[in-house]
Amino acid sequence: MKALILAGGKGTRLRPLTYAMAKQLVPVANKPILHYAMDGLYQGGIRDFGIIISPETGEAIKQSLQGWKKDDVRLTFILQDEPAGLAHAVKIAKPYLEDEDFIMYLGDNLINADLGSHIAEFKAKGFDASILLKQVPNPSSFGVAELDETGQVMRLVEKPKDPKSDLALVGVYLFTHRIFDAIDRIKPSWRGELEITDAIQRLIEDSSVVHSRVHTGWWLDTGKKDDLLAANTIVLGDYMNYEVAGEVDAASSLQGDVHVEAGAVVRNSRIQGPVMIGKGCLIENAVIGPYTSIGDGCALKECSVENSVILEGCHIEAVPGRIEESLLGKGCRIIKSPVSQESHKFLLADHSEIQVI
Ligand code: TTP
Repeated sequence: MKALILAGGKGTRLRPLTYAMAKQLVPVANKPILHYAMDGLYQGGIRDFGIIISPETGEAIKQSLQGWKKDDVRLTFILQDEPAGLAHAVKIAKPYLEDEDFIMYLGDNLINADLGSHIAEFKAKGFDASILLKQVPNPSSFGVAELDETGQVMRLVEKPKDPKSDLALVGVYLFTHRIFDAIDRIKPSWRGELEITDAIQRLIEDSSVVHSRVHTGWWLDTGKKDDLLAANTIVLGDYMNYEVAGEVDAASSLQGDVHVEAGAVVRNSRIQGPVMIGKGCLIENAVIGPYTSIGDGCALKECSVENSVILEGCHIEAVPGRIEESLLGKGCRIIKSPVSQESHKFLLADHSEIQVI
C-alpha cells in the first residue's frame, strides 16, 4: 500500500510563522510535525510515500524529508500548483497512485494511532474506503460522520449547525481507486476547493462500503497556534525522558523529564520538565518550563518561559514577567529596552501578535 501525505496548502491560520516556513515543518518537541506522520506510517508498514508539495514550501519539505529518509523507503514529490483542495491533491496524484489502495494523511495532523491495524482491517474486509473518526466536544467546528450501528458511514456533514453526531473526521483516510471516479464527479465547494468529504459522500451515494474506525487516543490538528501548543504539551508529556547530554552547572536544578541536547549549557537556572532544550542553547539565570520546547542555538537569559515553543536561534534576555503560551519563529529577539522603562519597541512582520500588560 502507498501513502499520500498532504504537505501543501496555504497555512493561513498559522501566520506569520507560515510566511517563512511550511506549517508541516513547525517543530513539536524539536521535531517537525511532518516527521511524526512519516514515522507513524512507516511503523504501520508503509514504504512508498507520495508527498503533495506547494510551489512556496516544496523545496523545504523535500530537504527536511531527506533528513528523515530511510534506505528501504521511496519518496515521490508531487507538485500541486495551487491549494485547490484535498480531493484535488488526490486527483493530481493519480499517476503516482495508479490503481493501488492508499492511505491519505494530512501532513499537519498528529495522531497516536496504530495505523498498521487500521490498514490490515481495510485490506482484510475489502472496504471501498475507511475513515478515522474521533469523538469531539465541539462537532460544529469539524466535518462529522453519521454512522449506522455497524460503523458504516451514512452521511458526512461539514461543520453542522445542528450536529447529529460528535464524531469528527481525523486527517487519515484509506481509499481504493474508486475514489478517483467519485472525485471526477464532484464540483468545487463554496470556498472553491474540491472537498474530500464531498467525494466520500459521493462514494456513499454510489452504495460503496465506507467504513469508519473511532480513534480513542489523541489527535491534534496543528493548523493554529493554540492547537500547536496543545500538541507540544501532549508530545512532550508522552515522549520526553530525562536525558542530559549538554552541560548543567551545580547552581541549576532540573526536575522531571528534561532533555538537554549536546552542546547546550544551563547555568544557574531552574528547569521544570517536560522541557526540551536543543543543541548549542545557552540558558542562564532563567526559569524554564513546564511544557516548553527550545530549538537549537537559542540564548535565554534572565527570563521565565513556560508552555511555549521557541524555534531555533531565538534570543530572549532580561524580560520582566513570565512568557507563556507563546510561539516564536526562528531568530526572534525579545530583549529589555536599554533606554526607557516606559516604552515598548517592536519590529514585527505582518500578522504578528503581541499581548502586553
Ligand atoms: P488545511 O489545514 O485544511 O488547509 P491549509 O493548509 O490551506 O490551511 P489554512 O486553512 O490555515 O490556510 O489542509 C490540511 C492539510 O492538507 C495541510 O497539511 C495542508 C494540506 N493541503 C494540501 O496539500 N493541498 C491542498 O489543496 C489543501 C487545501 C491542503
